[in-house]
Amino acid sequence: KKVGIVFGGKSAEHEVSLQSAKNIVDAIDSDKYEVYLLGIDKQGNWHVNDRSHYLINEEDPKLISLNKTNEGIAVIPGAEKNQIVTSNSDTSVDQLDVIFPIVHGTLGEDGSLQGMLRMANIPFVGSSVLGSAISMDKDIAKRLLKDAGLKVAKGYAYRSVDKESINYESLKEDLGLPMFIKPANQGSSVGVHKVENEEQFYYAINDAFQFDHKLLVEEAILGREIECAVLGNEKPAASVPGEILPTGEFYSYEAKYIDETGAILQIPAKLEDPVVENIQHIALQAFKALNCEGLARVDVFLTNDNEIVINEINTLPGFTKISMYPKLWEESGVSYRELIEKLIELAIE
Ligand code: DAL
Ligand code: MG
Repeated sequence: KKVGIVFGGKSAEHEVSLQSAKNIVDAIDSDKYEVYLLGIDKQGNWHVNDRSHYLINEEDPKLISLNKTNEGIAVIPGAEKNQIVTSNSDTSVDQLDVIFPIVHGTLGEDGSLQGMLRMANIPFVGSSVLGSAISMDKDIAKRLLKDAGLKVAKGYAYRSVDKESINYESLKEDLGLPMFIKPANQGSSVGVHKVENEEQFYYAINDAFQFDHKLLVEEAILGREIECAVLGNEKPAASVPGEILPTGEFYSYEAKYIDETGAILQIPAKLEDPVVENIQHIALQAFKALNCEGLARVDVFLTNDNEIVINEINTLPGFTKISMYPKLWEESGVSYRELIEKLIELAIE
């Protein structure tokens, strides 16, 4: 089978996607699958290339400090200009049997790419247009989760046109301190701030609006950060839960990808069996409530009273070396290679 891996993309999670794609390409069974790499650079141009080590800069394999700008096709260091997809290229997208999009964030994870692939009639891994779109927007996702009877953090969404109406004092009164401020459509904690005072609050509001026209102000949930991986279509399965133990203030972009000491992943999380079952049950309910397909990682808080509050759902979760999704399945008895195969099967099922 010809499998196209789409990676990179215009979102702030471009670099994360390169790492995810590299791991998928390295793990995929090349006896079974013929892999075609379709890279999208930061300007949104598409490129075809054939060597996985082009996915990341070998001289700087950790890469990924935010805001690093790549020019032209620098997204795939070493790629040649003639590898750009053109209409007379050897591998046009419509000859592929299936596409594994591993583009995180806006345009890749929000239904846009999924809509394009649907129109092109190519099966693809993961949620379709609706599930992708509603999961990407934290405001919409929270409303649907609430409607399904699931718990989410209390908070409010604001559009940038209503920025002047955002008032620190009344939100502090309502939500308490600290508060969390985050762009509605964003991943990897880009633009997310934990704020303790007025100055930090307004700084965070301005920063979050750099990434999206809508943001959320939320109460802080005191509790453990647990993640659960879901796999399947009509009858999805949930993995063992894992725990994030951030060593800093919260599980920030820095803690995720830059500072290796920023968080410890405990897999499986140390939890009593009934709590594990409850988390898995809620993860599956959330997956269904948001119309997810194929895969998703459900991130929750476990409060001191054993309440489970859903933080968010990621429909194309990270596959980097430090990413939870593949590790949770590994611990649940599905190897990285088998996982990729299952995802591809689910896409063409
Ligand atoms: N948004 C990142 C890639 C994640 O959820 O893992
Ligand atoms: Mg996310």
